Amino acid sequence: MRRIVYLSTATRLMSDVELMDVLRVSRENNARDGVTGLLLYQGGNFIQLLEGDADAVDTVYARVEKDPRHHSVLRMLDGESAERLFPEWSMAFRPASGLSSELRQEIADFIARAPQEAATTDGRRALRLVSSFVQSMR
Ligand SMILES: Cc1cc2nc3c(=O)[nH]c(=O)nc-3n(C[C@H](O)[C@H](O)[C@H](O)COP(=O)(O)O)c2cc1C
Repeated sequence: MRRIVYLSTATRLMSDVELMDVLRVSRENNARDGVTGLLLYQGGNFIQLLEGDADAVDTVYARVEKDPRHHSVLRMLDGESAERLFPEWSMAFRPASGLSSELRQEIADFIARAPQEAATTDGRRALRLVSSFVQSMR
């Protein structure tokens, strides 16, 4: 199984309707392609986790990377995983307003450090962030 986490910047602030449109298409396609994951949107940045069979994740990522609704797509983690973190979610989503202040702070730190840490491919901080999110959903 392949797992990718990236950070990107929205080309312009997304309205709720625009976000829901991204989510609807993502959920339809990902359900078809056996891809699961998480989308976070905070302060004009996206953080997305994509997981599934390597080929399926490659294909989705290649499509998403080219989407003009965001830019400066930085791959923060790209690796193998034994199991899915979001097995039930074709694309889980939380707006920043629905997150605890601790998690919002963790996201802000992640974004601030991303330019330096994108070069190191182990993705430790990305995994920690996503794990905190999984905890918060329980
Ligand atoms: C932040 C962001 C995340 C996205 N995530 C996904 C995704 O997980 N799966 C997906 O199929 N498309 C995703 N998209 C949309 C794709 O870029 C693309 O528009 C879509 O896959 C095209 O689907 P269609 O050929 O069925 O119209 C995302 C777009 C953005 C801006």
